[in-house]
Amino acid sequence: MVQFTLPKNSKVRTGKTWPKPEGKNIRKFQIYRWNPDDGENPRVDTYFLDMDKCGPMVLDALIKIKNEVDPTLTFRRSCREGICGSCAMNIDGINTLACIYGLDEIKGDVKIYPLPHMPVVKDLIPDLTHFYAQHASVQPYLITETPNPDKEWRQSIEDRKKLDGLYECILCASCSTSCPSYWWNGDRYLGPAAL
Ligand code: FES
Repeated sequence: MVQFTLPKNSKVRTGKTWPKPEGKNIRKFQIYRWNPDDGENPRVDTYFLDMDKCGPMVLDALIKIKNEVDPTLTFRRSCREGICGSCAMNIDGINTLACIYGLDEIKGDVKIYPLPHMPVVKDLIPDLTHFYAQHASVQPYLITETPNPDKEWRQSIEDRKKLDGLYECILCASCSTSCPSYWWNGDRYLGPAAL
């Protein structure tokens, strides 16, 4: 039987275990780390947090780790309310938004990786250049058939309602990066987000 293996420099190694704080409600976090500048393999670092002093969402834990344990941990976030899509990552095996994914939804240790099958910029940050280019290629905006007016073009409430259900995607890339067809043919298949 044919066996496949990752190239040596892609194998994910066991990383550093960071100090455990005092407390009765300690939780373990295993987080993917990769720094393009140090020439090392990717690794999984282990962190511990006292959940009595941590907010309820996965993003709260990441921010606490960055602020109080390891300032080199790198991830994207902005709105903290599921609107901007920046904090999409793979948490406990699911592509989701860290800011609205509750730590109480995860059983056992919390495992956090970047969105799968994308090049990694650093740690939990995927390179979404190709994903955004695909989205731009479908011209995802309204194109008028009549000449543009010189002033603001007012939209009626009725006309706006016609767009409901078509404009809610926040472009977090969670769907595309969980799609096997996109994993294997991402250069030719636009993926669910763009479509
Ligand atoms: Fe904006 Fe999570 S920080 S969606």
